[in-house]
Amino acid sequence: MSSVLRVRRSPPLRGVCRVPGDKSISHRALLFGALADGLVEAEGLGQGGDNLSTAAALRALGVDIQLGDGRARIAGVGFAGLRAAAEELDCGNSGTTIRLLLGLLAGRPFETRLRGDASLTRRPMGRVAAPLRQMGARIDGRGDPARPGDVFPPLAIRGGNLTGIRYELEVASAQLKSALILAALQARGPSELREPARSRDHTERMLGFMGAPISVDATGAIVIAPDGWNGRLRPARLTIPGDLSSATFLIVAALIVPGSDVTVEGVGLNPTRAGALDALRAMGAELEVAVTGDAMGEPVGRVRARAGRLRGARIDGELALRAIDEIPALSVAAACAEGETIFADLAELRIKESDRIAALARELTRAGAAVTERPDGLSVVGLGSGIPKGGPVVPEHDHRIAMSGAILGLRADDETTVPTADIGTSFPSFAETLAALGAPLGS
Ligand code: S3P
Repeated sequence: MSSVLRVRRSPPLRGVCRVPGDKSISHRALLFGALADGLVEAEGLGQGGDNLSTAAALRALGVDIQLGDGRARIAGVGFAGLRAAAEELDCGNSGTTIRLLLGLLAGRPFETRLRGDASLTRRPMGRVAAPLRQMGARIDGRGDPARPGDVFPPLAIRGGNLTGIRYELEVASAQLKSALILAALQARGPSELREPARSRDHTERMLGFMGAPISVDATGAIVIAPDGWNGRLRPARLTIPGDLSSATFLIVAALIVPGSDVTVEGVGLNPTRAGALDALRAMGAELEVAVTGDAMGEPVGRVRARAGRLRGARIDGELALRAIDEIPALSVAAACAEGETIFADLAELRIKESDRIAALARELTRAGAAVTERPDGLSVVGLGSGIPKGGPVVPEHDHRIAMSGAILGLRADDETTVPTADIGTSFPSFAETLAALGAPLGS
C-alpha cells in the first residue's frame, strides 16, 4: 500500500460492514489471558499496531501467544509465571500498553525497561507511577524540566511487595484505573479505588468474567480483595466486539456524505464508551442503534447511520468522557453541521497520541470551518451545506487525526491527501472498508 491515501468527493456510501475488534478490549484480552490458569482463546481480536505491541511485550515476558486471522491463543501463566524480559519492551505508540504493563509489572520481582515511539515518549506517566510507588514499586524514568514531578518514557520498573491502596484518582482514566487494579490484584490487603467520573469499565467487566476478586460497592468504589485468592484468572473463551471508535469514523462519514446509508454490525456498545452515539444524536443525526447480543458482559449490536442535516451541540462533562476517543470524528461532524459545536472538559485530549485539540483546530481551520481553540476543548462553527476544502492532512503520529482528515475529505471538491502510516495503529482496514462502501479512494 502506498504511504498516502488520496480522498475525493464521494458518492453516497452504502452497505453493511464490520470493523476490527475493539482495541481497548483486545489489549485486556491479551494481558488477562496471559494471567489465566491455562489456555485462553480470543476471537475477533484487534490486530492493529497497538495490540501487536501488547502481544510482543507479553511474549518478551515469557508468554506464548499465537495470533492469526483475528484469533489469539494465549498460554496463560498467571502473575507468578511471568519472567524477566531479556530486553527493553517497545510499547510503540500505545499508551494503554505501557500504562497497563506498569500495573502488571509493579508486583513482579524483577526489573523491566519500557520505551515507546516519539509520541509515547512525550506522554505523562506520573499519574500511574505515583500510586504504584506508594504501593511499593520502584519506577524511574525521564524527567522534563518543563513538567516537574512528572515522569516520561523510557521507564524502568522493579516490582515490589505491594501493599493495597485506597486511592482517589485525580483524572477519570481507564488506563490509570486498570494499572492500579492489576497492581492491587498482586498486593497484600484490599484496595479501594475511586474515580471522579466513571471511565470505560472494560477491565472490571473482563476481570469479573474471569473470576478475579473485584467488585463495585454501593458508593461506586472499585474494591479489589486478593487475600486468599490463588492469583490465577479463570481460562475463558473471549469474544471481542467490534471497535466503536473505528466504527464512528464510518458512521460520521455516512452522516456527512449526502445520500449515504451505512450499517455497522457486531460493534461494542458499552455505555461507558458509547458517548459518541449520544453526541451525534444531540447533533440531529439519524441513527438506529440495536443491541443484539452480549460478549463477556459487553453489549454488542448494530448501528445504522443515514446522511442528514446536523446541527451544533454542546459536548462536555460525562458525555465528553464517554466519547473521549471519538472527539476527532465528532469534530468532523461539527465541521459539517449548521451552527456552533462546543467541545469542553477535554483537557486530556492534549496528552493523547498528539495534542488533539491543537491538531483538530489546525485541520478543521484548513478545511474552512471557524474554530476557536480553548485550553480544554474547542468551538467549531460548521460549514452547514458549504463545502470543506481538501488539502494535505498532517496526522502527527496520530491515527485518529489521520482518519478524521480522510472522512472530511469525502465532502471536499478538491483532493485531500492523508499519510497512512499511522492508521494501522487501530484500524488497518480503514481504507478498504470505506472503499467497499463506495468511497472513491486512491493511493
Ligand atoms: C483507554 C483509555 C483512554 C482512551 C484510550 C484507551 C483504555 O485513555 O483514550 O484510547 O483502553 O483504557 P485514558 O485512560 O488516558 O483516558
